[in-house]
Amino acid sequence: MENTGATTKLKGSPLEKETSRRRTFGIISHPDAGKTTLTEKLLLFGGAIQTAGAVKSNKIKQGATSDFMEIERQRGISVATSVMGFEYEGVKINLLDTPGHQDFAEDTYRTLSAVDSVILVIDCAKGVEAQTEKLMQVCRMRNTPVIIFINKMDRDGQNPFDILDEIEEKLSIRVRPVTWPISMGKSFQGVYHLLNNHIYFFKPNKQKLEEEVTEIHSLDDNRLDDLIGEHADILREEAELIEGVYDPFDANTYLSGEVAPVFFGSALNNFGVKELLDTFIKIAPRPVARQTDIREVKPEENAFSGFVFKIHANLDPRHRDRIAFLRVCSGKFERNKNYLHVKQGKTFKFSNPTSFMANDKSVIDEAWPGDIVGLYDTGNFRIGETLTEGERVIYKGIPTFSPEIFKELVNTDPMKAKQLEKGIRQLTDEGVAQLFTQQPGNRRVIGTVGELQFEVIQFRLLHEYSASCRFDYLNFYKAVWVTSDNTRKLQEFIAQKYRNMVTDKYGNHVFLAESEWLLKRSMENFPELKFHFSWEVI
Ligand code: G4P
Repeated sequence: MENTGATTKLKGSPLEKETSRRRTFGIISHPDAGKTTLTEKLLLFGGAIQTAGAVKSNKIKQGATSDFMEIERQRGISVATSVMGFEYEGVKINLLDTPGHQDFAEDTYRTLSAVDSVILVIDCAKGVEAQTEKLMQVCRMRNTPVIIFINKMDRDGQNPFDILDEIEEKLSIRVRPVTWPISMGKSFQGVYHLLNNHIYFFKPNKQKLEEEVTEIHSLDDNRLDDLIGEHADILREEAELIEGVYDPFDANTYLSGEVAPVFFGSALNNFGVKELLDTFIKIAPRPVARQTDIREVKPEENAFSGFVFKIHANLDPRHRDRIAFLRVCSGKFERNKNYLHVKQGKTFKFSNPTSFMANDKSVIDEAWPGDIVGLYDTGNFRIGETLTEGERVIYKGIPTFSPEIFKELVNTDPMKAKQLEKGIRQLTDEGVAQLFTQQPGNRRVIGTVGELQFEVIQFRLLHEYSASCRFDYLNFYKAVWVTSDNTRKLQEFIAQKYRNMVTDKYGNHVFLAESEWLLKRSMENFPELKFHFSWEVI
C-alpha cells in the first residue's frame, strides 16, 4: 500500500511538514447508519475522548419538527462538534461533522467542499439509502476520494457481494474490498484483511480498544480451518471471487475518486475501526491544491489563503457575533495578522481565532493547510468568501442546489420591518435557507430543502431579532439559475416570465418553475439561454 507521507519521516519547511501530516475529512451517511458511533470510536483511538458515549448525536429525531428545544439543542451540539481535531500516529486529523438530518443537506454539501476525502458509512441491512445517493453525488462532482465502511455486521444484513454491487450501481463508483466479513449477524466471526492476511476476530464489546488478531500465511494455511471451522472454505471461495472480480487495490485510483476501498465492521462494538483508521492515515490525501477563479493554489504556497464554508450564529442572543468556519487552503494562518477579505476589498485581523479539538475550543496563534479555524465575525462573512494575504482570488466549488420547498415571507409586525430584513439576511448568510427577491414589491421568497428550516427561521427571527413573520406556501417545483450571452433574449425571457422571475442574494436571475413540464418547455422555447440546476455561491 502506498504511503502518502504521513508516517514517514517528514522533511522540508514547517509549512511542508505541517501540510503533509494533515488529513481533513468528513463522515457521511444516511441517518442511523452509524456515523455518530463511528465518529466516537475514531475519537477514542485518537485519545480525544476517554469513554464511549461522549459524543452526542447531533441529529434531530424525525418528526420532532415542532420541538424548538430540539432545534436549539441541535445548534448547540453542532457548533461543539462541527470540527473534531485529533492526533493519531503523528497525523493531525480534522474530522468535519455533517448534519444527519436531511433537512440540513445543504449544510452538508457545503461542508464537503472543505474536506479532502470522505468516509461513507453504510448499514449492511439497509444498503444504499436515498440520502447516501445525494451526498455521494456531491462527492462525485469533485472526485473526492471515498472510503466505505459497511457497518452493523453484528446484525444480519444483505449478502456483502450484493451490497457492493448496489454501491457500484447506485453511487457510480467502483469498489475494492480491503477487509472481508467472515459470516455476519449472530455467527459473525470477524474480518479477513485481504491485503495483509490478518484475521481480526469479533468479540462484542462496546468499550474495548484492542482486537484479537491472528496472522496466517495465506488462505491455504490449515490453521484457518481450526480458527474459523466451517467458514474457512466459504472465505476461500469468496476471496477467490473477489480477486477475480475486483481490480487489485491501487491507492492512485482511490485518490482520483474512481475506486472506493471497502471495510466491514461494527462501529458499536469498535470492530473494524482501527483497520479503517490505520489504512485511512496511510492512503487518505493530504491537503490538495484548490481551484480559484484565476488559478490553482497549492497548499505549500507561502501566502495564506482560505475560504469560509460554514457560519454559525451565536447561541446567546445577547451577543450578535457569529463563528465563521474557515478552511485554510495555503500558507500559514496567523493570529492578529491582517488578511484581505477579497469580496469586500477590506482587511481584517482576528484576535481570537479558535481551533477545535474534539469537544474543546481554544484560541490558536497559527493554523496550517487542512485546518479549520473558527473566526468571530460580526456579520462580514458569507458562505464561500475568501481570505488571502493580498491576492485577489476567490475559491470556487461551493455549490447551491435548487430548494425543494418555497414559501413567501410575510411580515406580521409592520413596526419591525427593519429587524425582519436584517434577520432574514443574516440567517440566509448562515445558509439556513435561500433568499430570493421579486420586484416590484420587494417580495421575499424563501427556499429550503426541508420544512424544518421554516420553523427554525420563524423561531430565530422572533428570539434573536424580535421580528415576527408568517410563511405562505408557494407552488413552485424548482429554482433554476438563468444566464445567457444573448442579453436581448435573456431580457425577453425575464419580461415574459416576470411572475416567476426572482433574483438570488447576489443579484443573479433565477426562474421559479411551477412544474417539470413547464421548465422543459421554457428550455425548449429559449435555446439561447443556459439553465443551471446548481450554482456556485459566489
Ligand atoms: P447516525 O449518526 O448515522 O444517525 O447513527 P448512530 O451512530 O446514531 O447510530 C444509529 C443506531 O445504530 C444507534 O442505535 C447505534 O447504537 C446503532 N449502531 C451503530 N453502529 C452499530 C453496530 O455496529 N451494530 C449495531 N447493532 N448497532 C449499531 P439507537 O438505538 O438508535 O441509539 P442508541 O440508543 O444506541 O444510542
